[in-house]
Amino acid sequence: MIRTQSSAVINFARRAFIRGMAPMGAARARQLFREGLPENFRPAFEFLFEQKLSAQDVRVVERVEVLRTALAQGNKSFRVIGSDGNLLTRTSQFIAQYSSVTRGWGTFLYLCAKGFKATTILELGSCVGISGSYLASAPHCREFLSIERSPELAALARTHIQHICRDADVVNGTIDDVLPQVLAQFTQPIDLYYVDANHHYEPTLRYFEKAIPFLGQGALVVFDDIHWSKPMWNAWQQLCAHQGFSHTIDIGRFGLCVWQGGHAQPRRHTLARYAGWVWSYVPR
Ligand SMILES: C[S@@+](CC[C@H](N)C(=O)[O-])C[C@H]1O[C@@H](n2cnc3c(N)ncnc32)[C@H](O)[C@@H]1O
Repeated sequence: MIRTQSSAVINFARRAFIRGMAPMGAARARQLFREGLPENFRPAFEFLFEQKLSAQDVRVVERVEVLRTALAQGNKSFRVIGSDGNLLTRTSQFIAQYSSVTRGWGTFLYLCAKGFKATTILELGSCVGISGSYLASAPHCREFLSIERSPELAALARTHIQHICRDADVVNGTIDDVLPQVLAQFTQPIDLYYVDANHHYEPTLRYFEKAIPFLGQGALVVFDDIHWSKPMWNAWQQLCAHQGFSHTIDIGRFGLCVWQGGHAQPRRHTLARYAGWVWSYVPR
């Protein structure tokens, strides 16, 4: 009971904070667009800061959330591999609520994929396929692949994502083992690369470096949980200075990077303080 009350208070405070900061975020985003930030971000930023969402996009969101609700109502347990390599047991409710992207940030991902007109999407870390279902809902998506090392999760993610996009697939394996073959499977350069697994400094940078030859010009690369820990924050600092990116944006939960290739030098932006994401690691 106490727990419910305190989380209700936190949620209330968080919503109040977002309401207060969002208009400033909207104004700052508009300024960035005037200064040359790609327009592809506009639908996602207008959703984040102004809650703008078309009726058609609401239907897309509901279609994914039906999958989450069904999962949360189930009483299945899954054996998943934890970050230390140990086997853990997780209930479907836990996975639906805590391991998967939230409705709001899932919508944000979908709107990024839509805004970038992504036809080819690669995800690392499928879990049960909630973020994958959001990404594969993008109207131009033709090729979608996701990698997941836990066999039970990979199977369920495949079912969920193929419900959204028939040709999508989930590859069961560890990223280091299967990433080269998965990258080579794409028939076109990758338009959107979402990195949401193995949140440590070295793997985060390695997974990015391996994908560089396969990224299309103007591709969006999204790193989840850049504020998760000091090593993740340090990885983000490296990425923000990486030659070949034209823009990097700290949006609180995600690091967003636009890939141009060649000798492009990134222009670094932050909208994190307006986005209402509670940071685990606060850089000093
Ligand atoms: C945070 S969850 C992904 C959540 C999912 N993207 C979503 O929001 O719906 C991270 C997933 O990555 C998987 N994972 C972690 N390290 C991995 C590795 N080295 N290779 C493959 N999968 C890995 C985990 O099993 C876990 O399911």
